[in-house]
Amino acid sequence: MIRSALMNVMTAAALKAGRGLKRDFGEVENLQVSLKGPGDFVSLADKKCEATLYEELAKARPGYGFNMEERGIVEGPDKSHVWHIDPLDGTTNFLHGLPIFAISIALERDGHIVAGLIYNPATDDMYVAEKGQGAFQNNRRLRVSARRDMSEALIGCGVPHLGKAAAHPRFKAELGAVMARAVNVRRLGAASLDLADVAAGRYEAYWERGLQSWDMAAGILLVREAGGYVSDADGGDNPLATGTICAGNEYIHRQLLGLIASA
Ligand code: IPD
Ligand code: CA
Ligand code: CA
Repeated sequence: MIRSALMNVMTAAALKAGRGLKRDFGEVENLQVSLKGPGDFVSLADKKCEATLYEELAKARPGYGFNMEERGIVEGPDKSHVWHIDPLDGTTNFLHGLPIFAISIALERDGHIVAGLIYNPATDDMYVAEKGQGAFQNNRRLRVSARRDMSEALIGCGVPHLGKAAAHPRFKAELGAVMARAVNVRRLGAASLDLADVAAGRYEAYWERGLQSWDMAAGILLVREAGGYVSDADGGDNPLATGTICAGNEYIHRQLLGLIASA
C-alpha cells in the first residue's frame, strides 16, 4: 500500500465522502418503488459527495485547482496542481441499485497525473496509484493480465447512452469487430472501475469514447503503474485530450487498437 502524505489526504477524503455515498445508496433501494423514482435524490447525493471531497482536499492542500464534474473548474493560486474529481462514477448503476460505482480522484502536477484513487464504497474496494510507486487494490499490488491471445481475452467497453445516439453506429461497428475475435465483452457502467479491472488483470483490455478527464485520469495511472498500456482509442498518446481511451496489457492493447481501427 502507498503511505505517502498525499495518499493519506486522498484516502481520508474518499473515505469520508464514501460514507455519505454508501448511506445514500441504501436509501435508493427504498425510493426505487416510488413513482417519482430516486432521480433527484441521487443527484443530491452526487453533489453532497463532491462538496465533501472539495472541502477536505481544499483544506489539506490549499491553493490547488479543481476540475470537478458537478461544479466544474475552480482555479487556485497554485497553477501547477489540479484535482480531477468524479464524485460518483457509475451514476446509472447507483440509481438502479447496482453496487458498481466509485469516487474517482486524480492529481495533476505540471501537466502529469501523479496520483490516482478510485473507491467503491459499496464493496469497500480502494484502488490507489502514485507515479513510480505501483498500483494497489486495498493492500494487494496490482498487475495487468498476462494473456496474449485475443480469443481468450475479456474486453471491457462503454456503451454510449440514449442521449448520445450519434455515437451509436460507430460503437456498434467497433463492438462487432471485437465480438468477432475476443472471447467476450463486458459493460459494467463505471469507467473508473473498468480501468481498475484492467489494472487488476480481470479485463485484458478496455476501450471507450466520449469520456471526461475525471472519468479516466485516476484509472490511467492505475493501469500504467500495474504494467499496462494506455492510449486514446485511435492509438494516440493523449486520452485526456481526446476523451477516448484504450487500455490493456501490452499484447491485447495493441490487438484491440487494430480491431477498432478496422471497424
Ligand atoms: C459515466 C460512466 C460510464 C461511461 C460514461 C460516463 P457517470 O460516468 O463512467 O461507464 O460509459 O461515459 O459518463 O455519468 O456515471 O459519472
Ligand atoms: Ca463519470
Ligand atoms: Ca459522475
